Amino acid sequence: MDIRKIISEMTLEEKAALCQGKNSWETVGVPRLGIPSVWLSDGPIGVRKEIDGKDENGENMTEEAVCFPAMVGIAASFDPELAHFAGNTVAEAGRGLGVDVLLGPAMNIKRSPLCGRNFEYASEDPYLAGQIGAAYIKGVQEKGVGTSLKHFAANSQETRRFSVDERISERALREIYLAAFENSVRDGKPWTVMCSYNKINGVYSSENKWLLTDVLRNDWGYEGAVMTDWGATADHVKGIDAGMSLEMPRGCDGDDLAVVQAVREGRLSEEALNREVERMLRLTEKCIEGKQTEYEYDAGQQHHMARRIARETMVLLKNDGGLLPIRGNRKVAVIGEFAEKPRYQGGGSSHIRATEELSALEALRSVSAYTYAKGFNADADTMPDTLYEEALETARNADIAILFLGLPDAYESEGYDRTHMRIPACQEKLLNGILDVQKNVCVVLHNGAPVEMPWAERVPAILEAYLGGQAAGGAVVDLLFGAVSPCAKLAETFPLRLEDNPSWPYYPGFRDRADYAEGIWVGYRWYDIRKMDVLFPFGHGLSYTTFEYSDLKLSSDKFKKGNKTEVSVRVTNTGHFPAKETVQFYVRPDHAGRPRPVRELKGIGKIFLQPGESGTVTATLDERSFACWDEEIHDWFVESGRYIIEAAASSRDIRLSAALEAEGDAEYVHVTPDTLLNEILSVDGAQELLEREIGADFLETLPQWFRQCPFHGIRRGKTGDMISTERIRDLCGKLNALQHSGK
Ligand code: BGC
Repeated sequence: MDIRKIISEMTLEEKAALCQGKNSWETVGVPRLGIPSVWLSDGPIGVRKEIDGKDENGENMTEEAVCFPAMVGIAASFDPELAHFAGNTVAEAGRGLGVDVLLGPAMNIKRSPLCGRNFEYASEDPYLAGQIGAAYIKGVQEKGVGTSLKHFAANSQETRRFSVDERISERALREIYLAAFENSVRDGKPWTVMCSYNKINGVYSSENKWLLTDVLRNDWGYEGAVMTDWGATADHVKGIDAGMSLEMPRGCDGDDLAVVQAVREGRLSEEALNREVERMLRLTEKCIEGKQTEYEYDAGQQHHMARRIARETMVLLKNDGGLLPIRGNRKVAVIGEFAEKPRYQGGGSSHIRATEELSALEALRSVSAYTYAKGFNADADTMPDTLYEEALETARNADIAILFLGLPDAYESEGYDRTHMRIPACQEKLLNGILDVQKNVCVVLHNGAPVEMPWAERVPAILEAYLGGQAAGGAVVDLLFGAVSPCAKLAETFPLRLEDNPSWPYYPGFRDRADYAEGIWVGYRWYDIRKMDVLFPFGHGLSYTTFEYSDLKLSSDKFKKGNKTEVSVRVTNTGHFPAKETVQFYVRPDHAGRPRPVRELKGIGKIFLQPGESGTVTATLDERSFACWDEEIHDWFVESGRYIIEAAASSRDIRLSAALEAEGDAEYVHVTPDTLLNEILSVDGAQELLEREIGADFLETLPQWFRQCPFHGIRRGKTGDMISTERIRDLCGKLNALQHSGK
């Protein structure tokens, strides 16, 4: 495609139209010049392609498609390869259904467990989310379908999502809220990015030049198109100027005319419009090329893949006394409506019309005899006495009771947040009743985000099945009965109670303002620095076997900025069950310096081992593994000093550690008129600079105690009022430049 030529042949009206949707799901294209429209459909856990007509609930009809586990589970696999495979698979369905770009993955950080869309998001940790995001994007795109990395950025709540102003420090943005997007962009190279609805520090994301151009394009080198979330445009003209390429869906009538008019009146430069037109044409070109890629799509086959993937996404939280896996001829009672009608996906734009559904009851039929009691009505959140009594009776007469609990649809969805973290009261009552008549209880949870478990102590086994996709029931049975061992680990902390969460005092804000006052202390970063007890820590997940860690090695015990360090650890399966282990590598600063989290995840590796087998897991640490964002220089800064590298089975189960000495950026003193003179003089070359600028004897003319005074004090020194405020500022600039010239 000769893009420059096409642009030169396009009318202003055609250019404006190309930057706007044609309808809900298509772009306009330029039919006169043979440029086709592009079809966008929701993802990422399956393809949600709308077709004409309404379903029985009055909702728009969508094509049937295989529903895979929600992103919360994909992230819990701690396995970029699995995310990549999931991406491949969903993309093939996309190709089968004629979709050009899948609207996902969503990489917002889980700031609060209450966020209604947490099930769609990966983690509270940006490193893990960024690894999963990049792998998923590559998996989709190598099959010729584009992705839309969303919702850029800081869409960590649903309350007032269309208008809320997220007030976030620069450091928290860079280290937490943007970092997962950054890796997804740099490594995954998504064809498109979708902005969020909210404002960030006063400016809507859809017209935020700092976000869309300075950070996304200038800092991270992103070259693709950016689209608005559906209806996120506040001012399309401002958006284009800021780096927004496409308004979706078709905007208020007149928006493209507004663009035409703005160019004609000189309020928007035609270059800015051409820049976005070019990005749209490049996207179209990719979609055309993508259609040439080979693919295979077989929905029946994908259902089996969905079951395989789901097994890797469910976390065994507790297994006291080795209650699981269930073996032998035990009398099994299955209780809870979710066993019959699994809740396997969340509500909102990611909702899929599944091709089929596999419940645990159905999957169990070929594995074990069982008795079943419904227990409660999941939809209505009620438990008539008869159901309660029947459930207790069923549990009493069995050797083991598997109790399916969780959050009903109405509790969590796109569009609203939860107000508490409990499961419905009727389910808690049922569980407590069953625990009085049966001690061998295994709880299986279907929910998209952490719940409080005041009952956890009394329950020997808990499997967090999350929202495991249409084959979830099969995967649950595979895990409970030991066809395979659980291997997922929590990509988020389960706090003991909601109030322990760091965002609790501020979430979801007041009216249109949400202060992210907890700064970088998100998730385990907070619980660790406060040494708080949690219900289940970040990275926790049990297996049917045991693993021993040995031989932690660093390729060097010195790290130099710009270099890389390999870290490796040997893992041995010391139990009797073949299984996968996820190793987490944390970096822990061990020197005085800026406030830093106790430890941060900087490497992951997963390995499958037969009983008795050993293998090595490695990860690579680079500059970013040691860096923090410095708000004074507005850049990443690697502190020199000692760091401990930890190999861990969870963030609270550190198995081995080794130290290294990092040689990072030169420390600096950010000089302002308020900086103490002594501190300034500690900077290499500062004294010489001041002597050059003010006079060779300037220090001698000042009494010794002046060195403890702020810099501006030298105006009043013995030399009299000879240095103006402006001159002081100018000197500050020079002193800062002196230090940063080498960076
Ligand atoms: C959601 C997006 C989704 C879009 C299109 C919006 O309301 O926030 O995630 O892709 O709708 O359905």
